[in-house]
Amino acid sequence: MHFSVKSGSPEKQRSACIVVGIFEPRRFSSIAKQLDKISKGYISALLRRGELEGKVGQTLFLHHVPNVLSERILLIGCGKERELDERKYKQIIHETINSLNNTGSMEAICFLTELHVKGRNTYWKVRQAVETAQDSLYTFNQFKSNKKELRRPLRKIVFNLSTRSELISGERAIQHGLAIATGIKAAKDLSNMPPNICNSAYLASHARLLANSYSNNTTIMVFGEKEMKELGMNAYLAVGQGSTNESLMSVIEYHGNPDREARPIVLVGKGLTFDSGGISIKPSDNMNEMKYDMCGAATVYGVMCVALALNLPLNIIGVLAGCENMVDGHSLRPGDILTTLSGQTVEVLNTDAEGRLVLCDTLTYVERFNPEIVIDIATLTGACIIALGHHLTGLMSNQNQLSNELRSAAEQAGDRVWPLPLVDEFQEQLESHFADMTNLGGRPGGAITAGCFLSRFAQKYHWAHLDIAGTAWNSGKTKGATGRPVAMLSQFLLNRSAFSCDESIDK
Ligand code: BES
Ligand code: MN
Ligand code: ZN
Repeated sequence: MHFSVKSGSPEKQRSACIVVGIFEPRRFSSIAKQLDKISKGYISALLRRGELEGKVGQTLFLHHVPNVLSERILLIGCGKERELDERKYKQIIHETINSLNNTGSMEAICFLTELHVKGRNTYWKVRQAVETAQDSLYTFNQFKSNKKELRRPLRKIVFNLSTRSELISGERAIQHGLAIATGIKAAKDLSNMPPNICNSAYLASHARLLANSYSNNTTIMVFGEKEMKELGMNAYLAVGQGSTNESLMSVIEYHGNPDREARPIVLVGKGLTFDSGGISIKPSDNMNEMKYDMCGAATVYGVMCVALALNLPLNIIGVLAGCENMVDGHSLRPGDILTTLSGQTVEVLNTDAEGRLVLCDTLTYVERFNPEIVIDIATLTGACIIALGHHLTGLMSNQNQLSNELRSAAEQAGDRVWPLPLVDEFQEQLESHFADMTNLGGRPGGAITAGCFLSRFAQKYHWAHLDIAGTAWNSGKTKGATGRPVAMLSQFLLNRSAFSCDESIDK
């Protein structure tokens, strides 16, 4: 889809369709008022007849409105003017895009970016509109024999801005929004792929293709089981030992900082391409959704796409920790004791708590990069869903400032997180009779004890852990990957890139 910005008045627009907001109850936005005036009250007459109340997401198409050059006007309900917040704004854009796309409007000029959203500037409104539009149009149909292709899909959107002085930040917002939307799509595509196709080798080949297309400042290393054995990554390897798909850890190194030696930001993604639970096997209901247990790795891949596309002035290392947890004669057993790369030993009490085993060795491995920050992203615990539900990603960290930076990036990006406390009291739940710790903390505070487990391997640097078990995919009618938290981490990196303009700060 093609996006652009311009600044003009609605009656002069020749686009196929003009999109304008109507507030509840039947109140004009300033653009709607202008259109009503030039059409000699045509729109107010319709509203008086009760055709549109203005509730969020309501739509009404008008054709050949007197004195208006465009063929059509799409009126879209925006709710009460004073109550227009970020969530409603995105909902309105979503409804707009779907209505346009489903009614053969191939082009439109959208005046919704002129609406007032509390605390948000033009950059934010345009960028969110681009990201939301791309998200609304996403489909994953490559395995469908009959693809329902639209005859006249939406191709082009122009966002109108009230003053010419906003055009520059509008253009920047489109550039950033498109890059982020592309990263989100890349993450969703990888995540939605079935587990018979998307195994660790598939993740590695994607990582390789990405790095090779930016070969002047990006390199890739893929570690197989042999290399990981030599390093001593026994916990990671133990998880994959029951699978016929080889465990592969892909490490993408991007040098965007003019100082090549500047300490990197490291992103580590849990990449369980399927999690059956292993010998501590999961119930069969919904087990298919455990193909999504690689969404952390998909997030890292998506964020690397964004960083490379925007050529961010940072050094970033992305690690996709690919692995498969299966049931087999070679599988890891409950009771096994593993010596991790850090030297600490772990008694396995549940083979379904495998994510932390893969991640602990990866967290130790990345020490060698002398990282400024390490962030891991993982569909780690069902307990996180119980704690926070499906709207918020769980955030744990060993450093307050990093935690605050991630929280504000999340608010800016509309991809929200909520902190969970990593307090020492929980560490006791990991005590083992026979090894340094167990991999199981019991039911109370299960998301936190998983975080505590990881914290023992992240003591040498500033570290944050994002538990995306509840946010990485939707079940039910809208089943599919969400691409979260690509937007939030991209925002974090944009903020870290310290753009001189005001765009990285919310106003
Ligand atoms: N991948 C799962 C966590 C998960 C479950 C994410 C459901 C999203 C939906 C993870 O490997 C797991 O199985 N965790 C166990 C840990 C427990 C055995 C301590 C869990 O949450 O039940
Ligand atoms: Mn598991
Ligand atoms: Zn898992």
